[in-house]
Amino acid sequence: MKFFIDTANLAQIREANELGILDGVTTNPSLMAKEGIKGEAAIMNHYKTICELVDGDISAEVISTEYTAIIEEGKKLAAIHPNIVVKVPMIKDGIKAIKWFSDNGIKTNCTLVFSAGQAILAAKAGATYLSPFIGRVDDTNWDGIDLIAQIANIYSLQGFKTQILAASIRNALHIVKCAEAGADVCTCPLDSILGLLKHPLTDIGLAKFLEDAKKTA
Ligand code: E4P
Repeated sequence: MKFFIDTANLAQIREANELGILDGVTTNPSLMAKEGIKGEAAIMNHYKTICELVDGDISAEVISTEYTAIIEEGKKLAAIHPNIVVKVPMIKDGIKAIKWFSDNGIKTNCTLVFSAGQAILAAKAGATYLSPFIGRVDDTNWDGIDLIAQIANIYSLQGFKTQILAASIRNALHIVKCAEAGADVCTCPLDSILGLLKHPLTDIGLAKFLEDAKKTA
């Protein structure tokens, strides 16, 4: 399973990248706004900086919702760097645009996915990645991990090539469960990635080893 970081924060992207386990980055308009990035030029420049920091696929989301406008915006985003993946919402014009991007060699990430039916449509359109939002599904008393497993089963049975990019990750356990359920990629906040490191017995064991090492010095 590939690891992407889900942020537009450059310090967090650098920290995750330095771990040596980072395969890419996802952003969305809310994450860009959180970093105070304003205006088309600043947004384009921010994506360029992220592409220079991380050698992997970088999702840049369109804010257009009409077919022609999505294509034009996506072309501009894709021109920033060869690693840009155009992130397109799961709407009717979005599906049409994903098909166009797919036919024209531009990678896509179909976002705001909450059902297996949506996953089938995105795969049929040729999406490179599909982003089911695990945490937001959980928030509605449905099981986000079950959705990943269901989509993984369908894609495997049907031979769809679209990669399942589990998004809206809230904790380290989500990452483990996504790996078990067959996600191809997990995009996570830095805290969830670092949460994978933690186990109290590791801390207790290390403290004991370091204490005993003093006896052998
Ligand atoms: C990623 O591509 C999504 O935009 C993101 O994971 C959404 O996460 P949230 O539900 O925590 O906002």
